[in-house]
Amino acid sequence: MRRPKIKVAVVYNEAQPEMYKKTSDAEVKDLEFKTYFEVDKTTPMEEYDYVVKKLVSVGFNAYTLNIRDNLELMLKNLKEDKPDVIFNFVEIYKDNPRLEMNVVGLFELLGIPYTGAPAMGLANCQNKILAKRLLSSAGIRIPHFFIVYARAARYTHNLNYPLLVKPAFEDASVGIENESIVNNNSQLRKRIEHVLKQFNQPALIEEFIEGRELNIAVIGDKRLKVLPISEIDFSTMPDHLHNIVSFQAKWDPHHESYHKTIPICPAILSMNIEKRAKELAFKAFKVMGCRDYARVDMRLSKDNKLYVLEVNPNPDITEGAGFMRSAHHAGMTYAQALKRIVKFALGRKNNLKSAEAPS
Ligand SMILES: Nc1ncnc2c1ncn2[C@@H]1O[C@H](COP(=O)(O)OP(=O)(O)O)[C@@H](O)[C@H]1O
Ligand SMILES: [Mg+2]
Repeated sequence: MRRPKIKVAVVYNEAQPEMYKKTSDAEVKDLEFKTYFEVDKTTPMEEYDYVVKKLVSVGFNAYTLNIRDNLELMLKNLKEDKPDVIFNFVEIYKDNPRLEMNVVGLFELLGIPYTGAPAMGLANCQNKILAKRLLSSAGIRIPHFFIVYARAARYTHNLNYPLLVKPAFEDASVGIENESIVNNNSQLRKRIEHVLKQFNQPALIEEFIEGRELNIAVIGDKRLKVLPISEIDFSTMPDHLHNIVSFQAKWDPHHESYHKTIPICPAILSMNIEKRAKELAFKAFKVMGCRDYARVDMRLSKDNKLYVLEVNPNPDITEGAGFMRSAHHAGMTYAQALKRIVKFALGRKNNLKSAEAPS
């Protein structure tokens, strides 16, 4: 008798899938600058369907499960469909990225193996203040920073301008715009108060590290592998925009910065810097409690120092995203990379076992 195929639930959370309207070609014409990227018209739902297709192509029985902000729906499905493993794409629950960790906590309680970081790793990275403390206590170089929890008469600090002000608990460049970079106390005050009010959370203020931006993809569970390094090329960014991956650069095809933040893989780096960046990525991955796959974002300053900006557990691994670009350069097809990640989850007899502590 043939062994039944392993059943993979591709779990994600899109509360209103019908809200995605396709950007028409007409909308991105008539721009005053030269575009670089075509507008991606794929909806998240189509991307997850594609993941299923690819998982099927490498021998799994796979299906999508959109939990639609509805816990009962999720539990009912998992009980009825009984997947062997969950490919976890949930990043948000009821509009709150801070609840991401609780969803995997539930998978853990249910005893279903799932891909990616455990609740603790997600929690560590989601709170940028906690992340900074963990990274710096492990001796990893990060930009100097201070935190503002509430409006005050004065925001005293001993950092050097330019500074970058960001919300402490957001992700995906939310709250990071051209105006986030400030050059004096009055701009600083304005932006801090904007963040406090707009996001209702502390403001994190960092020294702005000029230089190159590197993305280092790490894959593995017990044994980690670093994939070819990717770089964001800012060389075509006009003078009135800062060299950062702002919210507009990440998400708005009508904004100039979207077309001036161009990923290049592999990045051209000296052997020495490449080696240091890879070791650093490894260490950051472990310190933050990541698992299976993550992307460590760094800056290489003008004086060749590497700073970790942030560690992204479960980064975007849709086809075309940075992580997969690196995987392709390492010789993996999309389906092979997905299969590898599923195998990591299946290899853990219980979800709580994760990568070993850093040495
Ligand atoms: N200290 C910094 N120095 C230089 N650039 C920064 C700094 N912090 C953030 N950035 C820029 O802002 C982008 C988004 O910041 P990040 O902290 O990674 O937020 P998110 O979690 O929203 O991705 C980075 O990719 C980088 O381009
Ligand atoms: Mg980032």
